[in-house]
This record gives sequence, structure tokens and C-alpha cells, in this order.
Amino acid sequence: MEKREELYSGKAKSVYTTDDPKRMVLLFRDDTSAFDGVKVDQLDRKGMVNNLFNAFIMQKLEEAGIATHFEKVLSSQESLVKRLDMMPVECVVRNIAAGSICKRLGVEEGIDLNPPTFEFFLKNDELHDPMINEFHIRSFGWAEPQHVETMKELTFKVNDVLKQLFLDAGLLLVDYKLEFGLYDGQVVLGDEFTPDGCRLWDKETRKKLDKDRFRQGLGGVVEAYEEVGHRLGIKFD
Ligand code: TMP
Ligand code: ASP
Repeated sequence: MEKREELYSGKAKSVYTTDDPKRMVLLFRDDTSAFDGVKVDQLDRKGMVNNLFNAFIMQKLEEAGIATHFEKVLSSQESLVKRLDMMPVECVVRNIAAGSICKRLGVEEGIDLNPPTFEFFLKNDELHDPMINEFHIRSFGWAEPQHVETMKELTFKVNDVLKQLFLDAGLLLVDYKLEFGLYDGQVVLGDEFTPDGCRLWDKETRKKLDKDRFRQGLGGVVEAYEEVGHRLGIKFD
């Protein structure tokens, strides 16, 4: 497998083509950003930590029968993935209220959501990823109705798997965002699962161990990601 040209560079990852048209290389950079690129920084070790964190979680999801784009780790900051045709929607499940839902609905952070709630967002930085509903997805053709159903089912299945995985490590999975794409017509989990795209709190103290440390200027961002990883049994370089 040969890495070729850069296809796309996002806020924290870059994507490269390979000599195989059905495979891509994901490079997890040390860059971090929040509030749609308004707050940016470079954090030592973050690319490596997120690459290995993502690999661990994607493998757990595969073991649970959820198809993901992940194939293998190539280097400390790079992984090989299947090339998906991404749907421009973000799927969010919330087990506990935090972040945008608190502002939007005027609810207190930390309230248990029973049952967990689900939201779609449009992946569009210029518009600040607005919340959308299934009718928008259908009317604008962002995804086919049967794929919307599958995305919802898979996002909740991920919740069943990961809520327990984190709980066993003394962590609460507060919320998370997933992105899906199509591979040979099948809905497959793409992008990443790292503390950049989810909220994780210590079960006892409710200490934040995710990107809110960066958003809120709490410090110890990569240290928190590594602590979560260590609790899950991930070995970092
Ligand atoms: P929110 O509270 O900002 O709506 O985010 C909910 C969860 O989804 C949180 O864990 C962060 C994640 N998320 C992203 O990582 N990127 C996004 O663009 C959005 C909308 C959410
Ligand atoms: N979509 C937001 C951003 O990338 C998510 C965040 O604040 O982490 O800036």
C-alpha cells in the first residue's frame, strides 16, 4: 500500500489517497479546534493518542458487529481506512445533558436523559453545523430514507456497546457524534471515535475527560485523553 496525494485536510485530520482506490490513509494531526475553527491549538501527542484511541474503539465496534471503515494502524499517527461516500450529516446521541442542548433547551448540565435522545446536525462549518431533522435530510437529498433509518439504528447500537465499555472503566459516556458513509451500498461508520467527538466524565467525580477541557480552557487535554485510554487498557507509545 502506497500513500499518495492529500485529498482533504480537516481541522484535526488529513486524508490521503492510496494506490488502492477503495482505501485511504487518515492522518491524525496534533491540531485541535473548537467552535468551528474559532479556537485552535497544537497539542503534543494528541495525534498519536487519538489514532490509537480510535483504532481501539473501532475494533470494539467491529467485534460487536458494527461495520466501520477502520482497517489497521499504519504508524503512530496514521490508519488505513476504507474509502466511503460520506453522508453530510452528523448523528448525536445524548445520555446526559451537556453542551449545545443545555443552551438550546435551557436545561441544566448533568441531567440524565431517559431514554437517550438523538439529534441530526448538518456537517457544514460555515453554517455552524445546524441541527436538522429527517424531513430536511429527505427533502434536500442528503441521505436516502433507508440509510437514515440504518444510521439511527447503528448510532444507538454504538451506545449500547460503548456506554458499557466506558462504564466498566469508571466513565460516563455523556454524548457523542458519529458520521456514516456508503461502501458498496452498505452504511458503514466513518470518521473517528475519540474524546474529540464525545463527552466522557469520571463516574464518581464527574471530572471532564474530553474536548470540553479544551473548549472551556481547563488544561490537561491530552493527559485526560490518555487517562481514558489507560483505563480502557490502551497502550500508547
Ligand atoms: P454539542 O453539545 O456541541 O451539540 O455536541 C454533542 C456531542 O457531539 C459532543 O460530544 C461533541 C460532538 N460533536 C462534534 O464532535 N462535532 C460536531 O460538529 C457536533 C455537532 C457535535
Ligand atoms: N463542530 C465543532 C468544531 O469543530 C465541534 C466542537 O466544538 O468541538 O468546532
